[in-house]
Amino acid sequence: MLRHIIESQQFNVPFIMELFESAQRMEKIFHRGGTQDYSNKIMASLFYEPSTRTRFSFETAMYRLGGKVISTENAKEFSSAISGESIEDTIKVLNHFVDVVVIRHNEIGGAKRAAQVSKIPIINAGDGKGGQHPTQALTDLYTIYREIKTIDGLNIALVGDLAHGRTIRSLAYLLSKFERVKIFFVAPDALQIHQDICEHLEENDIWYTKENSIHKIINQVDVVYQTRIEKEKLNSSDNEYSNLMKEFYIDRNVINHLKQNAIIMHPLPRLNEISSEVDNDPRAAYFRQAQNGIFVRMALLAYLLDRY
Ligand code: CP
Repeated sequence: MLRHIIESQQFNVPFIMELFESAQRMEKIFHRGGTQDYSNKIMASLFYEPSTRTRFSFETAMYRLGGKVISTENAKEFSSAISGESIEDTIKVLNHFVDVVVIRHNEIGGAKRAAQVSKIPIINAGDGKGGQHPTQALTDLYTIYREIKTIDGLNIALVGDLAHGRTIRSLAYLLSKFERVKIFFVAPDALQIHQDICEHLEENDIWYTKENSIHKIINQVDVVYQTRIEKEKLNSSDNEYSNLMKEFYIDRNVINHLKQNAIIMHPLPRLNEISSEVDNDPRAAYFRQAQNGIFVRMALLAYLLDRY
């Protein structure tokens, strides 16, 4: 039984499949307007970093479950963190106020610190640059499962800033739990996946390769999971950056080489890595992926609130 949701290593396949069944039920509940089953529950959303999808989808999920939400969207400035209050003290206080806390913290390990002092469930909505974002990874995996009907045996390209991307790290940990998955890490050398993830995949007998261009592998994969590559992270000139982006950019010409039943994903927000001309292609799953976040988060909230 899970009390807190902090990192992807916590989950096993039976838990994931049970959660996906619940998410499918939640999808039906959502489309008929929600339920009042959790009307006596309150969720705090405590965000020390900006968010559009994660915060709004958690808050939407809680409202659709019939619950209530209290929220701070800029906890660094608009909570007592500005006066130097520790995260531990903030969480100890919230334990007396609400039933569950969703936290996005600017430091790796922020959510874990919160969980260590909390009797009520803590959900990590993203910690630090290069930490984890487990509820995004569950949403991503649910999207793959819903669109392709399996995860075992898939070839999956993880593209972009793999060094800092917490969604990528969390998803790689989740994929390692499935059979015969092959992972293509596609990134500039400076932003390639870190060694800790490679070691984890090797320990779990997961095949992976590192590539410098999407063009080489686009016709081999079932899923292209694109993420942002920010110019600042590469320390490059405008010219170097735009030349480099040609190796990772997804447009109509690139998807002409993609399998007909493959899907294109992105945790969003996007910058300039997927052309908007791709949005109307049926394989572009990223806006469906964002909506799936509500169903998965409804299922997670219900799981935690039913048990604590
Ligand atoms: N995917 C994701 O985490 O988006 P937000 O930063 O908008 O929450």
